[in-house]
Amino acid sequence: MKIAVLPGDGIGPEICVQSLKVLKAISFKFGHQFILSKGLIGAESIKQTCLPITKETITLCKSYDTILLGAVGDPLYDNDPQINLRPEQGLLELRHHLGLYCNMRPIKTYNKLLKVSPIKQSVINKVNLVIVRELTSGIYFGNKWRSKDEAYDICTYNKHIIKQIAIQAFETARQRPNKHLTLVDKANVLETSRLWRETVKEIAQDHPDIKVDYMFIDNATMQIVFKPIQFDILLTDNMFGDILSDEASVITGSLGLLPSVSFGNHYSLYEPVHGSFPQAKGHNIANPLGSILSVSLMLYHFGFKQESLFINRAVNESITLGITTQDINHNHPCTTSAVGDFVFSYILKPRRR
Ligand code: IPM
Ligand code: MG
Repeated sequence: MKIAVLPGDGIGPEICVQSLKVLKAISFKFGHQFILSKGLIGAESIKQTCLPITKETITLCKSYDTILLGAVGDPLYDNDPQINLRPEQGLLELRHHLGLYCNMRPIKTYNKLLKVSPIKQSVINKVNLVIVRELTSGIYFGNKWRSKDEAYDICTYNKHIIKQIAIQAFETARQRPNKHLTLVDKANVLETSRLWRETVKEIAQDHPDIKVDYMFIDNATMQIVFKPIQFDILLTDNMFGDILSDEASVITGSLGLLPSVSFGNHYSLYEPVHGSFPQAKGHNIANPLGSILSVSLMLYHFGFKQESLFINRAVNESITLGITTQDINHNHPCTTSAVGDFVFSYILKPRRR
């Protein structure tokens, strides 16, 4: 299996090192060969090539089986509205060129971490949901314009795009015990949301086994911390999905724990949901588990189910034993590399307790 690795910015490189360690453990244990090749993206790419992503990186990604991404973003670019090259453009271009329209972000609670979340344990206990976010359309990719005192970003959707992601969301719901899908939109105000609702209603007719409901985004952002247990699959557009997934991470205890997969008809990309966490860069304190769990998702989707299970077990064990970083372990935090080392050795030699 050939994996293009794009470490990117901030903590991206150091967490990717841990994920590659985990892949090494899997290849030792199962005798697989992973062919890896690194590419540039984000601020690192701007620094070296003056572009947030180059043709070389895109070609590399297209010629490999899949992609593992670290993170993009650098504060250098955040507070200067005059700059017109931004690290994030690299990721957006990649999603666009590869047609990665469907982004899935699973969110679940770990018993050991219930007390780490600022939300009451009784509220978050047993939460297990997936945010299915549209990733290549909407306000992120519509026309943009700026004059001195005015600006716009246009949100566009067409039926085809909504249909293809809705089908993915319904099919995912079908494989889950609760078979429940909630469309999150703003259909009381936005025309695009009304098209989403209309289209999802049509697709719902072909999936009579799935319970479907509809919720406005303002209500959903409240409900997801008020009573998250009510959700199973949350289907939503690009912008709402971005916001909702950071918010939902509070349920698990840390944004650093969340993995994600983005795919289209030909390509796929795996990345943690968190950003580049520039304050932590080089300090060996960032949580590598979001990235490691992204590798687990990758292996699972490529048919390596047993391998994925081994990674999940090792991650569960690291959480249970408290071999975790400062974001989820305030009293005795471990380093990024210590967590990676533990997962590595646990895969090779699971200890019975
Ligand atoms: C995410 C990130 C990206 C997004 C940024 C880095 C462009 O926040 O994947 O959630 O907004 O989609
Ligand atoms: Mg985001």
